[in-house]
Amino acid sequence: MIGAANGTPISITGLGTHVPERVVTNDDLAKIVDTTDEWIVTRTGIRERRYAADDEALSDVALPAARAALEQAGVGAADIDLVIVATVTPDMPFPSTAALIADHLGATDAAAYDLAAGCTGFMYAIAQAFGMVESGLSRRSLVIGADVLSKIMDFADRSTCVLFGDGAGAVVVEPSAEAGFLGFELGADGGGGKDLYLPAGGSRMPASAETVARRAHTVQMNGREVFKFATRVLVSSARDVLARCDLSLDDVDVYVPHQANVRIIDHAVAKLGIPKEKAIVNVDRYGNTSSASIPLALADAVADGRVHQGSTVLMTGMGAGLTWGSAVMRWTAPV
Ligand code: ACO
Repeated sequence: MIGAANGTPISITGLGTHVPERVVTNDDLAKIVDTTDEWIVTRTGIRERRYAADDEALSDVALPAARAALEQAGVGAADIDLVIVATVTPDMPFPSTAALIADHLGATDAAAYDLAAGCTGFMYAIAQAFGMVESGLSRRSLVIGADVLSKIMDFADRSTCVLFGDGAGAVVVEPSAEAGFLGFELGADGGGGKDLYLPAGGSRMPASAETVARRAHTVQMNGREVFKFATRVLVSSARDVLARCDLSLDDVDVYVPHQANVRIIDHAVAKLGIPKEKAIVNVDRYGNTSSASIPLALADAVADGRVHQGSTVLMTGMGAGLTWGSAVMRWTAPV
């Protein structure tokens, strides 16, 4: 789906992030799996990532980010009428983590649900919140992109476990004085679902002693196929959304791609012809945090001054599904 905003100016008015305290370096991983810091840095750009503690679930990591976003937007939880949590690692299959978070925050008037679009989750969720606010169904939405992928890694699979980390980012989406969101492009190709999936625990393969023994509750990935898919859609989705908004790549001040692998980002930057300094890269510090990756990168860009009032920001995510999604917006939130 693709569309340009027309009508009420709607934007992000608050942004908050949180990562767990525990830092896991490449050398730490090399103690438990057959890998090296050199291999991981050269092939992925990742140097370290954060892992949630054993007793920390998704909502524990996401709540501080949500509170920070509300504070920056200057609104209380009671003023939120929709909470969407984009994740593939909810506290449990149900109730939704969004409902648990709404309860913890005191967002008693909010509808709340989780949204699963893999690493594209945050892009899908902000598009959805935009649509809800634009239609008038929601006055003010809280969107959280958060994952604790360390909980579903196979630490015997060196080609996958070194890539991921845990984190959370949250934004408040509501009508604003100036236009924020300019357009979205979202897509999915379930035919590629088999290249990045978690086999067991659903209705196709319910949990059993056998599924546990087969490590079927951990992420299975065909890295080469995902790499090819990612490099293709980062380019096509960015071009499509900009064209739909009558913008060119020259109009983009800041490019925020999903942080999966620095080689994927470098490829997209070269293919799109975006100056390297416009691309936000923090995969070295966090690894691939799935739904949290784009808000974490946005927050870094705000902190270092690259995103400021009026900046035109292009964001593109891609991930399990296979799915992809882009948004283009003018930044309006406080910096
Ligand atoms: N340490 C040391 N060696 C390793 C490691 C490791 N951690 N992992 C793999 N290798 C080895 C392989 O076994 C292979 O050895 P072999 O040649 O003896 O068989 C060799 O390194 C090369 O393997 P490749 O798979 O060809 O390595 P490649 O350069 O393709 O990098 C990687 C692998 C990093 C997984 C890459 O394919 C990739 O980044 N894919 C995309 C993954 C991704 O980003 N997924 C998530 C995106 S979507 C989302 O965010 C959910």
